[in-house]
Amino acid sequence: MTANIYYFSGTGNSLYLARKTAERIKGRLIPIASTTDRREVVDDADIIGIVFPVYYCDLPNIVRRFAAGLTNVESKYIFAVPTYGGGKGSSIKSLESQIRQARGQISAVYGIHMPQNAFLKRTENYMKLYAKADAMVDRMCENTADGKKGNFYTNISVDVLQRPLTPILNKFYIRGLKKIAGCSDRKSREELIPLLDNSFKPNGRCNGCGICAKVCPVNNIRIVDGLPEWQNRCENCIACYNYCPQKAIENRIVQKDYFYSHPDVGLKEIMSQKA
Ligand SMILES: Cc1cc2nc3c(=O)[nH]c(=O)nc-3n(C[C@H](O)[C@H](O)[C@H](O)COP(=O)(O)O)c2cc1C
Ligand code: SF4
Ligand code: SF4
Repeated sequence: MTANIYYFSGTGNSLYLARKTAERIKGRLIPIASTTDRREVVDDADIIGIVFPVYYCDLPNIVRRFAAGLTNVESKYIFAVPTYGGGKGSSIKSLESQIRQARGQISAVYGIHMPQNAFLKRTENYMKLYAKADAMVDRMCENTADGKKGNFYTNISVDVLQRPLTPILNKFYIRGLKKIAGCSDRKSREELIPLLDNSFKPNGRCNGCGICAKVCPVNNIRIVDGLPEWQNRCENCIACYNYCPQKAIENRIVQKDYFYSHPDVGLKEIMSQKA
């Protein structure tokens, strides 16, 4: 049996889990960011894994577009792995509806609670979260080998508590996103997200090194006259912010002065998403 593990990741949580899973099941690790020049991705494996972070209670735009173009998925074993700091929100519903259009079906979901990368949650013990996530990867690999179906969570109580809040949070997010994008006209969540980089700017520590442009998985940053300029195609992955060696990027989507990246995923590996 062959397996393709597709992933998107800004700060390494999803990349780490995707890489570990691919190693264990001898699958091919495929960055979703490397497929964006194709309208259609014709999958060529027996098993498909899709690993991604939850943004604003839903799928990242790039993952939604990828899933909409994914074909040759009929009667395959597909597992989805949302990683999040709270809960999966509507992400699996959204992913399912895209996959169904290609006549595919998600067989198993693994909701993995990881450190929140956008703000500090003082109650979180990162080491415990990483250990639970590793145990879930073991389970996921065993289940995949057995073709087992079902929904599995590292922290079911957090996810269950968040479920009734999801519609309320969605409304709240739209209002917040409009404010950050500086946008007064009617726009959907998908239209607002790319514009949130209107709030990104370099501070006086920026030395024009260009690392932010290199790490951006969707080439949304250009260095002009020694300073980064954002191009309104942002996925909100916050890789540029977190991997800037000077901590020189200010923005309004994450908590000020809170930085996070997975300890086993370095700058080079995040950069390799575009390859
Ligand atoms: C812009 C943004 C929005 C987020 N929205 C949510 C959310 O709605 N619910 C949640 O549980 N976590 C949310 N998170 C946290 C991430 O989903 C989580 O930390 C994830 O594991 C990061 O994965 P990565 O390191 O692969 O990028 C958000 C993070 C960012 C940057
Ligand atoms: S990575 Fe940081 S220091 Fe380098 S150009 Fe970008 S903002 Fe400036
Ligand atoms: S500009 Fe920054 S936050 Fe936006 S997609 Fe690129 S790396 Fe991610």
